[in-house]
Amino acid sequence: MRNLNPIVMKFFIDTANLAQIKEAQDLGVLDGVTTNPSLMAKEVIKGQENILKHYVDICKIVSGDVSAEVISTDFDGIVKEGEALAKLHKQIVVKVPMIKEGVKAINYFTGKGIRTNCTLVFSAGQALLAAKAGATYVSPFIGRLDDVSTDGLRLIEDIRTIYDNYGFKTQILAASVRHPMHIINCAMLGADVATCPLSAITALLKHPLTDSGLAQFLADAKK
Ligand code: E4P
Repeated sequence: MRNLNPIVMKFFIDTANLAQIKEAQDLGVLDGVTTNPSLMAKEVIKGQENILKHYVDICKIVSGDVSAEVISTDFDGIVKEGEALAKLHKQIVVKVPMIKEGVKAINYFTGKGIRTNCTLVFSAGQALLAAKAGATYVSPFIGRLDDVSTDGLRLIEDIRTIYDNYGFKTQILAASVRHPMHIINCAMLGADVATCPLSAITALLKHPLTDSGLAQFLADAKK
């Protein structure tokens, strides 16, 4: 049996840029947002208070889940940070790295009803652990695997098989998506979510035959 999650494929945007999030939201196909410390740093937001406010600002633009990543790497620190992030807004999903302390924290958050996104996942074994710990989402980084000559899409396929074998409810959130073919292939393989740069989402719109066909129709309409 394939894909036990009773949902359609979701599109998340992978940025902390409010203008890009708004543009994707206005397109009408956006289901959520993922951020990470590097994406937050790009927005040059100074001070912890403003960083937290930025997450809330993102939640005000979209109606779906917004991943906010912890930067602690010890259990107590991850729990403290994650609880503070989760309190910010009901749409916040706490993003936790795939490390030993992170897996323990995901298990803790699951028990508290706090939703999690297990990030920096590069193997099926890591994805299995994340699901066992009760992660809401698991984020395999397909583009970064491709960068080191390893098939990122194969990882999506393997995780799909493992999760479907046992009915794990953890959603496969394909991350580090670089181009439209990544999105199409993730959909073919049954990923629950793809988080993408805006450019990859808008690239799905494009086809030269659409452009030439439209130009012809508009020209003919004038005749
Ligand atoms: C996912 O949640 C990550 O933020 C992101 O997809 C990483 O992408 P990159 O490999 O392009 O940095």
